[in-house]
Amino acid sequence: MPGKKVTVVGAGFYGSTTAQRLAEYDIFDTVFLTDIIEGKPEGLALDLNQSRPIEGFQTKVVGVTTGTDGSGYEQTAGSDIVIITAGLPRKPGMSRMDLIETNAKIVRSVAEQVAKHSPEAVVIVVSNPLDEMTALTAIATGFPKARVIGQAGMLDTARFTNNVAEAADVPVSSVTTLTLGSHGDTMVPVPSACSVDGKPLSEVLDQATIDELVDRTRNGGAEVVALLKTGSAYYAPSAAAARMARAVAEDSGAVMPVCTWVDGEYGISGVYLGVEAEIGAGGIRKVVERDLTDTELAGLKEAAEAVRAKQADVADL
Ligand code: APR
Repeated sequence: MPGKKVTVVGAGFYGSTTAQRLAEYDIFDTVFLTDIIEGKPEGLALDLNQSRPIEGFQTKVVGVTTGTDGSGYEQTAGSDIVIITAGLPRKPGMSRMDLIETNAKIVRSVAEQVAKHSPEAVVIVVSNPLDEMTALTAIATGFPKARVIGQAGMLDTARFTNNVAEAADVPVSSVTTLTLGSHGDTMVPVPSACSVDGKPLSEVLDQATIDELVDRTRNGGAEVVALLKTGSAYYAPSAAAARMARAVAEDSGAVMPVCTWVDGEYGISGVYLGVEAEIGAGGIRKVVERDLTDTELAGLKEAAEAVRAKQADVADL
């Protein structure tokens, strides 16, 4: 899509792999990659641009060092999409919620600069704790809720699908899964929406195995953190964030599980929560409701109340 500009804030593992995926799609004019560490985004941008003749894409990657005073953001002005990855990742044993105070300060300052320089952007938030950082970005930008989206459900669903495919020994393309709720302890895997080659999951795997896979999905991020020992996952997360950005850039109308503002759907109101939504050029076109079992709906409502309490706190952070 000629002329489209996307900015990725934070050139760590998540941000740099997201920038790579976006550039390789070859649908953007420019991918801006920013960081507060001088030279890091410029160096990564140069490296990515040098891969263009081999990978065969034209998108230009531009690295920008930003200052705490907001300097540098002017170069990203008028971005159509901004992905916020700035913030600390977890260490082994930490929950995502342990990052809230540090990352809230970072995300708030980033969001204010984004609002100033790219006032029409759709913002995709990935910094953790995800549901809270998404709510905070909506507050700090003052953008309409439809234009501030969090990435979590795409990733959690991908992890669930991968777990099921391995357990059932089938290709990932045979498997459909879904998770809703929060990107944390109150994640709600939705077995009633899961299938293998069109067959309900309960006909393919026994209940104990399904329970185990659900549990592994809920702890999918922690499992990677424990193995890496420094830093958290980024290949699957960046794939998820980049696909969401692509749906916005192409105004595709794809339905994806994302963290979005829920206003009456499922009997839940006034909270950023993981649900399915249709994505277009303006961000969220609409939340898509589906039939849930009583247990799944109760789980979603429980998740909503848990994140509502935390999201109320972020306004003051
Ligand atoms: N503006 C821009 N970049 C920033 C800022 C800021 N205000 N503050 C920190 N950063 C940068 C850091 O300098 C670092 O390069 O954010 C980057 C974070 O990179 P990593 O430490 O590699 O972390 P990453 O794995 O990319 O995770 C980023 O995503 O999954 C979540 O929990 C994770 O919140 C974390 C975020």
